[in-house]
Amino acid sequence: MFYFLSLWPFKHFRVVASEGVRAMMESALTARDRVGVQDFVLLENYTSEAAFIENLRKRFKENLIYTYIGSVLVSVNPYKDLEIYNKNHMERYRGVNFYEVSPHIYAVADNSYRSMRTERKDQCILISGESGAGKTEASKKILQYYAITCPASEHVQTIKDRLLQSNPVLEAFGNAKTLRNDNSSRFGKYMDIQFDFKGAPVGGHIINYLLEKSRVVHQNHGERNFHIFYQLIEGGEEDLLRRLGLERNPQQYHYLVKGNCPKVSSINDRSDWKVVRKALTVIGFNDDEVEELLNIIASVLHLGNVQYGGEEGSACITSDTQIKYLARLLGVNGAVLTEALTHKKITAKGEELMSPLNMDQASSARDALSKAVYGRTFTWLVNKINFSLANKDESNKNYSVIGLLDIYGFEVFQNNSFEQFCINYCNEKLQQLFIELTLKSEQEEYEAEGITWEPVQYFNNKIICDLVEEKFKGIISILDEECLRPGDASDLTFLEKLEDTVGGHPHFVTHKLADGKTRKVMGRDEFRLQHYAGDVNYNVNGFLDKNNDLLFRNLKEVMCMSENNILTQCFDKEELSDKKRPETAATQFKTSLAKLMEILMSKEPSYVRCIKPNDSKQAGRFDEVLIRHQVKYLGLMENLRVRRAGFAYRRRYEVFLQRYKSLCPETWPNWHGKLSDGVSTLVKHLGYKPEEYKMGRSKIFIRFPKTLFATEDALETRKHGLATKLQAGWKGYSQKSKYQKLRAIAIQAWWRGILARRRAKRRRQAADTIRRFIKGFINRHKERCPENEYFLDYVRYSFLTNLRKNLPKNVLDKSWPTPPAALTEVGQLTVFMELHMEQKMIASEIFKDKKDNYPQSVSKLFLNTRLSKPDLSSFWAQYAVTVTKYDRKGYKARTRQLLLTANSAIIVEEGKLKQRIDYGALKGISVSSLSDGLFVLHVPSDDNKQKGDVILQSEHVIETLTKIAICADKINNINISQGSIQFTVGQGKEGVIDFTAGSELLVTKAKNGHLSVTAPRLNSR
Ligand SMILES: Nc1ncnc2c1ncn2[C@@H]1O[C@H](COP(=O)(O)OP(=O)(O)OP(=O)(O)O)[C@@H](O)[C@H]1O
Ligand SMILES: [Mg+2]
Repeated sequence: MFYFLSLWPFKHFRVVASEGVRAMMESALTARDRVGVQDFVLLENYTSEAAFIENLRKRFKENLIYTYIGSVLVSVNPYKDLEIYNKNHMERYRGVNFYEVSPHIYAVADNSYRSMRTERKDQCILISGESGAGKTEASKKILQYYAITCPASEHVQTIKDRLLQSNPVLEAFGNAKTLRNDNSSRFGKYMDIQFDFKGAPVGGHIINYLLEKSRVVHQNHGERNFHIFYQLIEGGEEDLLRRLGLERNPQQYHYLVKGNCPKVSSINDRSDWKVVRKALTVIGFNDDEVEELLNIIASVLHLGNVQYGGEEGSACITSDTQIKYLARLLGVNGAVLTEALTHKKITAKGEELMSPLNMDQASSARDALSKAVYGRTFTWLVNKINFSLANKDESNKNYSVIGLLDIYGFEVFQNNSFEQFCINYCNEKLQQLFIELTLKSEQEEYEAEGITWEPVQYFNNKIICDLVEEKFKGIISILDEECLRPGDASDLTFLEKLEDTVGGHPHFVTHKLADGKTRKVMGRDEFRLQHYAGDVNYNVNGFLDKNNDLLFRNLKEVMCMSENNILTQCFDKEELSDKKRPETAATQFKTSLAKLMEILMSKEPSYVRCIKPNDSKQAGRFDEVLIRHQVKYLGLMENLRVRRAGFAYRRRYEVFLQRYKSLCPETWPNWHGKLSDGVSTLVKHLGYKPEEYKMGRSKIFIRFPKTLFATEDALETRKHGLATKLQAGWKGYSQKSKYQKLRAIAIQAWWRGILARRRAKRRRQAADTIRRFIKGFINRHKERCPENEYFLDYVRYSFLTNLRKNLPKNVLDKSWPTPPAALTEVGQLTVFMELHMEQKMIASEIFKDKKDNYPQSVSKLFLNTRLSKPDLSSFWAQYAVTVTKYDRKGYKARTRQLLLTANSAIIVEEGKLKQRIDYGALKGISVSSLSDGLFVLHVPSDDNKQKGDVILQSEHVIETLTKIAICADKINNINISQGSIQFTVGQGKEGVIDFTAGSELLVTKAKNGHLSVTAPRLNSR
């Protein structure tokens, strides 16, 4: 089967020599990638859902869980640990073109990162899929990728740690075991990762969406409350539990027994507790804050155990043990809390009265308090994490962003309530965004390349979004109206209102409006929405209460008096005096989603579409019916159709030419003309028909996969042909050796004679050497003369050889072997060598494994001047070198000399000073990871003396940068960029240098105004 777009085979041959194990893994991968196509656009039968699913199945069976649809990544949850997320894998995807390696979540992460850096456009990665499909895992993998592969300083390392550690904390408080997923996110999360100009993560910010608070007080059968409760009870130290008044048994707590599922085999609450506890410290919680946070968690459990008894109509609390704990943990007065849990404050004729609650009302009030306390604490926690992730560097607010969206997936249960309504509405909005952006970007690409666009029919779910959110007429507006209107509004009157208002909508049905068949599967208290992802019946019971989300005023008052510092931030006294009715839950959600859409629209999106292979969380099970359903509602077939409507395949000219140039005599081995002409020549030679392809501005577009398959087959044959040639060469060589062997017998006799003569000569020479050595030893203290010359040379040689073997292990180690007394000359040499070695060590620290031409520099001596005709100005310099300076606008190249003095770097033209950069003003230095010699000296843009950053090129770039790093004390400020470097032009304007690997060094101004640098690959990495 076809495995195109997999791996560049030649690249792998190169790797084989250097990294045996890795190469074996990779070639195994190549073989496995023959299973199915890596990109659905290459499916011949692309309209067939069966072919689509078959391709997914084939790959899934081979543990190939990732497949592309163009640039969209489809991921199938493997439900087992795959060995594809280690550091080696990360390295493999770093800085590599999306299509050069097999599909992976790291490729998406890397692609967004590079786009952010090269195009300076904020990015976002939208991860969608139903509950349990692997969204959260995917987002964690992306975060890990950035944490490991992005450059880091000490400060950045702290931020990286905090970014990573925010996950276990948020998951502990916001995730729970549901029927669908043992670690289901019960809140939506959008996280911005902020990167500085060097591409290092310098901060982060999280926005949370609608936590499923109802879970605090109730769980369906087989489900659990939020993880943190169980973690605390199972893992908390004895002392801690005693202070919190908790027992080490979740069965003791009403809020934890509703789902009858205290233990889950896949979850280890005790070890998770340790992880969370440590993470809280990393994020910046001190012990007091942790204690206050846990006081709140424990008090929710105690609240759940508050039981009511008493007479009809007026509830009272039957035991005061819980109240005692609650008073202490919440820092409130016990009597006031007791009253607030059993009474309601009403205002009649300007007077405030306490009216007793009945048992049901009192239980609801208690549950409302638990939900409010937990929900607000969760928001506080997110704010606290945000504070810890905030980029505190005031001078560096000009960062780029990659956003990660991991939000609850589309959800259908037996009984669907207000929460599912909100979650599914959110998924409608995201689908809408997906449709708009994927179609838009496809269209834009054709436009940019000057290719005519052919529209494709697809289901636009805007109609459903409108049904839910339209002002005055939408379901949320109607719900709000029922919540706010005076009179006897109830969940059922809400249902009736819906029937009156949106009853005629094609995507809305109720029992009353349905046909006979649908009626059978609908309750009278349900309404059905025909979502893009399928039909869902929502039970209206609880909609009004949940939307109102009310907490009795006197309970709020008690919380406002709390001595717990977290609660005082959660319950603000101002809220009590605010007479305005708070926004309803649904409206708040709608507003926050609208803001989210704005955020996402302002960024360049990438998509990860997650698929769940089965409902039983089992590895290796591929449930076709379940998968077909997801393929359908994720709109993957439409996505593919849109992608294929135009052209199945598109590739930049240079990439296409590089891969297939061996198929045409004119382009092989190298094409020296315009890239597009090269591609034209190549495809004409291959016999492409005009209707099969189009030439864009920078890319070739190929309409049918079969055209590409044929080209790929030709490449395979060509490679085979090359191999045959090599084989023929080898055969010739081996025949020749055989012949030589025969001849050897004949000449052996003659050869033996020669050897004997040589041995005699060597013996004579040895005797001479010994004689000279003894003579030298006798005269060793004399001035150098013919008698001791040989001996002194020998001593010097053996000392240096010994020195080489015993070099100090680091720069600080000054223990050099003492030179022999006779060799003062060598003694002086070691001082030079010592300095030189120090510089080499620094160069290694900065560039080893990071810059492609570093290995070539290792064996070369670092010099103090590279000027062939040093002039006066260079005499007082510590280092001098000829450089090429590129001006910042037209990139005109000019020859200059760069001199490094004690305090500044000076650029000189034939003895005339052109520019001085004081080391104090040097912000940083950027250089590419390739083999070119370009580098940028960054200076503050507000420095009037400077016109902007300085772009230079040195033939001895490793030496030059090491010298600058040492002279200017900037060893930690050299940023080695993967794809491009931004620089300031002055007056706040910015420019970009793009670096790509190619066959030879080329520095040109690109059409997009960037400076484009192509550098040959010297070392395979
Ligand atoms: N790439 C993966 N490799 C191995 N296991 C995975 C992978 N992705 C997901 N899983 C498994 O599936 C489980 C569910 O994944 P995850 O929590 O990411 O789902 P989700 O889409 O976030 O669901 P929800 O919407 O309920 O939050 C994980 O706990 C893990 O066991
Ligand atoms: Mg999740």
